[in-house]
Amino acid sequence: MAFYEQEVGVLIPEDKLQARVRELAAEITRDYAGKDLTLICVLKGSAFFAIDLAKYIDLPVKLEFLGVSSYQGGTESTGEVRITTDVSKPMAGKHLLVIEDIIDTGLTMQFLLENLRARHPASLKVCSLLEKPARARTKVDIDYKGFVIEDLFVVGYGLDYGEVYRNIPFIGVMKNK
Ligand code: XMP
Ligand code: MG
Repeated sequence: MAFYEQEVGVLIPEDKLQARVRELAAEITRDYAGKDLTLICVLKGSAFFAIDLAKYIDLPVKLEFLGVSSYQGGTESTGEVRITTDVSKPMAGKHLLVIEDIIDTGLTMQFLLENLRARHPASLKVCSLLEKPARARTKVDIDYKGFVIEDLFVVGYGLDYGEVYRNIPFIGVMKNK
């Protein structure tokens, strides 16, 4: 029995997840053909998604990592975000695609978009594996979206509960939360 089976139930199974990641990658491949695309992986949650997506995109993409930490007010994010690890190069004039695991209140992505826009990229778009519209506090346009989910706390495929469960290969829900 796997280490997580007693605590975590399956919400989106691995095969469905991978199939959707391939579909998104095919769309991105079409849309950015002939352009120099930079994927911005938002750490740590989107790492698994961003790497799989990059593998399936049939273009010579560049990969940057952006570490953020949001100040929590209880369980709700306050929208106050701090960059803990910045990208390694200037982003001016680049076609940027921000890769996120989940857009919940939208406050983190709003901050990231404002921050990146100020660096004058050639274009700036958003790709999020999950969206949880029930808790949205600001409108974020998601250009590439994997799945819309209910108001559930999800783990796996990069998403954590107290830093654990990121290495589960599917999107799961905590059974007793
Ligand atoms: P906001 O609310 O700013 O939050 O859109 C986005 C960030 O909050 C985390 N988050 C979650 N993490 N399961 C998680 O493991 C969840 O259900 C969940 N909802 C939000 C996540 O870090 C995301 O980037
Ligand atoms: Mg995150």
